[in-house]
Amino acid sequence: MSCGVISLRNVSKGYSDGNRHQPVIERLDLDIGPGEVVALCGPSGSGKSTLLNLIAGIAAVEAGSLTLRHHGQAFELHKLGEGARTALRRRLIGYVFQFFNLVPTLNVLENVALPLHLNRLDHRLPDARRRLQALGLGERLNAFPENLSGGEQQRAAIARALAHEPAIVLADEPTGNLDGKNSALVAEMLFSEVAKLGCALVIATHNQALASRAHRLVELGG
Ligand SMILES: Nc1ncnc2c1ncn2[C@@H]1O[C@H](COP(=O)(O)OP(=O)(O)OP(=O)(O)O)[C@@H](O)[C@H]1O
Ligand SMILES: [Mg+2]
Repeated sequence: MSCGVISLRNVSKGYSDGNRHQPVIERLDLDIGPGEVVALCGPSGSGKSTLLNLIAGIAAVEAGSLTLRHHGQAFELHKLGEGARTALRRRLIGYVFQFFNLVPTLNVLENVALPLHLNRLDHRLPDARRRLQALGLGERLNAFPENLSGGEQQRAAIARALAHEPAIVLADEPTGNLDGKNSALVAEMLFSEVAKLGCALVIATHNQALASRAHRLVELGG
């Protein structure tokens, strides 16, 4: 019996294109412990984003089991419908999407306040503001996503993913749009915050420097 905060057993997932089925993830076993930092590596198209979407419950596994554990409770995602998976994601997961997914009609501070509000954690807003400041966005709190650079959107997405202090942080190419200096700053911030909060972190990345800081590498598509 595993006590991983994330456990996959024999998980398969693919996509259907007309009458053809393209397998992406096949019979994957993976356990990630509380506070563990795992880097997902592998070439473009190997299934890194697909795997993060399964863990987040955005996509459903085709076969196998996927369990999240939190405070002694086990949540069997493979048995849950979309609504229940969404409710669980809101509570347990912070997700830095590959293409950010900031809400375009909300400014930076409002984007970060949203997961707090949805979880009735509005009292954590001062901590969230502190993170925004640490990420160099202190002067951009009232800006809307369309007026931010790619790197600024990425940093806002990171602040949003951490705001409700989730048990699991999933980050898809979290430094993909940043220059060398900002990339190091953001990586530092992400690693130190997850260590402080004790959350598990799963990062999909092509960046060797970032991957080398993980406790463990998982290679997909090998
Ligand atoms: N919604 C979808 N419908 C059909 N095929 C998809 C869908 N999403 C992903 N795929 C396919 O599944 C495979 C894996 O895609 P995925 O986005 O998981 O790769 P990745 O490892 O994250 O790549 P990258 O490094 O480019 O971000 C690719 O061949 C992709 O074309
Ligand atoms: Mg991807």
